[in-house]
Amino acid sequence: MVAVSEPTQLRSSQWYEAGGLRSFSHRARTRQLGYLPEEHLGKPVVAILNTWSDINPCHQHLRERAQAVKRGVWQAGGFPLEFPVSTLSETFQKPTPMLYRNLLSLETEELLRSYPVDGAVLLGGCDKSTPALLMGAASADLPAIFVPAGPMLPGHWRGETLGSGTDMWKYWDEHRAGRLGDCELTELESGLARSAGHCMTMGTASTLTAAAEVLGMTMPGASSIPAVDSGHERMAAAAGLRIVPLIREGIKPSDILTREAFEDAVTTVLGLGGSTNAVIHLIAMAGRAGVTLTLDDFDRIAPTVPVLANVRPAGGPYLMEDFHFAGGLPGFLSRITDLLHLDRPTVAHASLREQLEGALVHNEAVIRPRTNPVADEGGVAVLRGNLCPDGAVIKHIAAEQHLLKHTGPAVVFDDYRSLQRTIDDPALGITADHVLVLRGAGPKGGPGMPEYGMLPIPKYLLEQGVRDMVRISDARMSGTSYGMCVLHVAPESHVGGPLALVRSGDLITLDVAARSLSLDVDDAELERRRAEWSPPPERYERGYGALYAEHITQADTGCDFGFLARRGHNPEPYAG
Ligand code: FES
Ligand code: MG
Repeated sequence: MVAVSEPTQLRSSQWYEAGGLRSFSHRARTRQLGYLPEEHLGKPVVAILNTWSDINPCHQHLRERAQAVKRGVWQAGGFPLEFPVSTLSETFQKPTPMLYRNLLSLETEELLRSYPVDGAVLLGGCDKSTPALLMGAASADLPAIFVPAGPMLPGHWRGETLGSGTDMWKYWDEHRAGRLGDCELTELESGLARSAGHCMTMGTASTLTAAAEVLGMTMPGASSIPAVDSGHERMAAAAGLRIVPLIREGIKPSDILTREAFEDAVTTVLGLGGSTNAVIHLIAMAGRAGVTLTLDDFDRIAPTVPVLANVRPAGGPYLMEDFHFAGGLPGFLSRITDLLHLDRPTVAHASLREQLEGALVHNEAVIRPRTNPVADEGGVAVLRGNLCPDGAVIKHIAAEQHLLKHTGPAVVFDDYRSLQRTIDDPALGITADHVLVLRGAGPKGGPGMPEYGMLPIPKYLLEQGVRDMVRISDARMSGTSYGMCVLHVAPESHVGGPLALVRSGDLITLDVAARSLSLDVDDAELERRRAEWSPPPERYERGYGALYAEHITQADTGCDFGFLARRGHNPEPYAG
């Protein structure tokens, strides 16, 4: 066990036991809730932050899981209180839940700060929920355990195993190409996603929950347990049992979320062939923990890490349930212990080294040995060049390899709607060699960087059998997507990044091996175009959208709000 900070007096005692009118009132109101004094006084108050909602299929089971957490908390001598917090449903929330990640992080932080809470159990897993809850917990810095929602069961259709997301994109393109009819599509609707739980590919959800586990914020082995497996309920109860001593020991996120922890998270995400979204989220999460993580860290670590998880979309054909039964994250980590910082504390009363003792891989087809990796180096590359002075990312291992080095003329779309309207128009004369460029979809311009980055290939090219093209945008891409898509171009076009200056017909060169992306137009011409450029109007004139656009930072620094990312002291609320 690694030494950590000393235990402190319960924070909640300021509300309940400080004496005076307020404490009297807080006790009276707890009686109103139906609790006896001996049920809660002197016990750690555990807030269970629950992102369950009727609209979120990935979190359908979290109401029951909150009960399991409560069971654990009561048995360990704590006082559990469930707090509903907003749900970020990747499928339903528009324009993108990314717009609301920082809002949930703010809600998380302020709930924990403003109520009589000693520690928290955080329930979530659909994409942005994980970074949002962890960013808030890091900022509040109260002891916290993350309970990942767990992947849904594999999809099935006509004898095939389906990955939610990944196969949705694939079969939609088949439909557009005229190879799949409406009947088949209706059948697929019932087969793609068949149980509670988050996407069961190595998409953003699985990538981020794995990151949470290796950071040390979950119970050991928690992240890959299928959502509807009874082991998932046991894991939730175990988190409830553990949070109470964690509070007594005074182990806070700041003890766990160290630079070493984030380097290990980068290593893990790359070795899993995980989602490009993890780049933005890990940088933002690290920022909240006071750790400066940059694109250079990803660039430096990527060549050292082989991709070992043979899970869709980067590898395959396997899905998260296969990964779980092949040994899950502990099995995977046992293969790369030489690349990790093992003597770090975790929430589980054991260092990472102690947790990985005895971890095994049970299926080498799913979690490959180092001698036979899915790819020799990390799945995400950072690109630089005159088109992306502050960087861009590409998941080159989930793309057609003949495009790794490519020069082609740009076809530029100023926004996603005009792209949708015109992409299939043969008059544009797009060939497989063209480079599709989308702008106006960045953090500020989107706003919220919608997952538009896997730009659709023109229907007439799909019909000719084209399945991949070089595509460039300041948007993000779903973790379940694939293709030679350059993403997160920074600075974005909306703030005058070079993407704003590209014109259709300009030559663009992508060279993944050289990590470069260049607009082959001379500097004098670019300067001339810059002088003519004026910023587009803001999309939101008021409300949260306007607040977002005012405070959002660029992709290379994590898309946090400046006022949340900056370091500084917040006073404890006066409870007396
Ligand atoms: Fe929730 Fe994919 S839609 S994780
Ligand atoms: Mg997603």
